[in-house]
Order: sequence, then structure tokens, then C-alpha cells
Amino acid sequence: MKTHLLKSAQISKAAKILQQGGLVAFPTETVYGLGANALDEKAVRKIFVAKGRPADNPLIVHIADKKMLPELVKEVPSSARKLISKFWPGPLTIIFNKKEIVPAIVTAGGKTVAIRMPAHPLAYKLIKLSKLSIAAPSANLSGRPSPTSAKHVVEDMKGRVEAIIDGGNCPVGLESTVIDLTGKVPVLLRPGAVTLEQLKKVLGKVKVANPNSSNPKSPGMKYRHYSPETPLVLVTGNNLIKKISSLINPKKKIALIASSEIAHHFLGQKIEVVVYADLPTLANKMFNILRTLDHQHYDLIIIHSVPEEGIGRAIMNRLRKATHKIV
Ligand code: TXA
Ligand code: MG
Repeated sequence: MKTHLLKSAQISKAAKILQQGGLVAFPTETVYGLGANALDEKAVRKIFVAKGRPADNPLIVHIADKKMLPELVKEVPSSARKLISKFWPGPLTIIFNKKEIVPAIVTAGGKTVAIRMPAHPLAYKLIKLSKLSIAAPSANLSGRPSPTSAKHVVEDMKGRVEAIIDGGNCPVGLESTVIDLTGKVPVLLRPGAVTLEQLKKVLGKVKVANPNSSNPKSPGMKYRHYSPETPLVLVTGNNLIKKISSLINPKKKIALIASSEIAHHFLGQKIEVVVYADLPTLANKMFNILRTLDHQHYDLIIIHSVPEEGIGRAIMNRLRKATHKIV
């Protein structure tokens, strides 16, 4: 299949491809999405094929307007109304009870559907022009780090999709927060840029789903994810510097991803040090760093833990799934 790389000015061509049942990768404020008409079962099936995604992992449906919600979901609880008025458009996905019209393939046969209204102007334009709701997972091959630039999407999806819209780098860089509002108590299924602290401020009590549960509510949580091919070690706990030092081996080509406080201990040593200034910057660049280091064929990539609060919770969630080993 020929993949067209489109500039933002060619977005109406992308909208047409979606209307004809094709696949279009597009930028959002979180990561690039791989979109198809959510109500066209045949089109959605192509997403699973293009990504190599397990069929039991449901997709997020993207809308451009709150008015599109009643067509897709049975009811909008007051908790959802509050979150929507505060965080939509933005990096927050909400789980609702679905209406009949949403095909089973989108929800992996389940009764609930994940909905998000992205804030990126190109995502908004694409959905508006197509006049569709768009099912879209992250536009990476299943298991790989999520794409945060059109280049990443080309790496994974060239020849597998009709078009890729180049909208530059994604401003957030990590996937949306996912919250389930179909039960008695709201459950945070995936941490993201809308933080647990922010959600609690609006909702009061919020439960946090255990990502290691054998029967996870969010099926995506059970799969290995975001992984570079190079072995990645996550160093945690106290004594980070000592633990990192013990991993360094002069015979090996090693890269360390570190905060400036940690990094300065390793400057001048025979390892590559990638320094980040703060956690939002790490969130924004993390997937790009992992992909870039992968191309440079290191023997080992080392990264250290960050405090699990605010965006740090989302970073640690992705790192735990991406790593080959935690020490
Ligand atoms: O930021 C994002 O959310 C990006 C952009 C493209 O919008 N999309 C994204 O999609 O990250 P994906 O498919 O990579 O992750 C969707 C997550 C998965 O963990 C999936 O299991 C969960 O949402 N999910 C989808 N539908 C669900 C449902 N009905 N109930 C529980 N979890 C659901
Ligand atoms: Mg994904």
C-alpha cells in the first residue's frame, strides 16, 4: 500500500480517506493516533491488522464536539459532566456505557466505550471535516514506544496506512489519562497529563487500578508496551547513584537517561548521558529518546525512577511496562 505523507493543508484529503473506510494517522496533543471511522466495523478491523494489536484490547473513540456523545453512549453521569467541562478538549479519556451503534470490534466485545475529545487543532479539524467519530489507538506497532512525531509514525506504519498527517511533535508526549466512570467509584485506569490530583479535586474519591492485576479493567494494561529493542533497566529506590554505577561496564555501550541532579555524577565517564530538565520535559521526550537510542544500538539503556506524583505517576507507569528489568 502507498502511504501518503500529508501536510496540514491537505487535511481534507485525509478526511476523505476516512470516509471511504481507510486508515489515517494524525497528530493529537498526546501522541499520534491511527484513525478509522469508529462506526465502520471493516475500517476498524484494519487498525488491528496494521498495528498487530490483540483483538481483546479496545480502542478509544475520538470526537470533536460534546454533541457527538449522546449518539455513542447510554448516559453521561454528572461526574463525567464535571470532568468534561474542566478537561475537554484535552488529554482525558472517559469510559461510558456504550450504545448499540458502537461496533463490538471497537470495544473488544465489551459493554463500555472509551471516548476522548482531543485538543490538537489538526485532530479537531480532521474529525470535523470527516463528520465521523474516529476510533484511534496510538499509531505505533503493537508493543513499540508510542509515536510523538510523524517520523516515528513513518517508521512503524509506512506501507500499512493510506495517509499520515505531519503535525510536528506532540506537545504532551504521553497517552491520555483513562478514567472509568461506569462503576460506583471512579477508577483511574491509566495515568496521564490530567493527573490523579486534578481528578480528585473534581470527583473526590478516585480508585487507582492495579496495573499488575491479572484481570485488568483496561485490557491494554496487561500487555508489554512502549519497549525499545535495546534492553532497558529501570533503577529504583534509594542509592540511585550507587545502583547506576554498579551497572556501568566499560566493555559495554551504555546510555543513561537522567535528571540533571543524577546526571552530573556520570559526566565524563564512558557512557552516553541524556539529561532532562524536569518531569514535563521527560514526559514530552521519553518515547523519542527511547526510539533514538534504539537506532544507535546500545547494549543497555539505564533510566532511574521519578517521584510518583503529578505527571511522574504517568512516567513511572510507562517505564514499568517498557523495561526489561527493574533493579
Ligand atoms: O492519548 C491517547 O489516548 C492516544 C491518542 C491517539 O488519543 N490513544 C491511545 O490509544 O493511547 P491506545 O489504544 O494506545 O490506548 C487505549 C487504552 C488501552 O489501554 C485500552 O485498553 C484502554 O485505553 N481502553 C479502551 N477502551 C476501553 C474500555 N472500554 N474499557 C477500559 N479500557 C479501555
Ligand atoms: Mg498504545
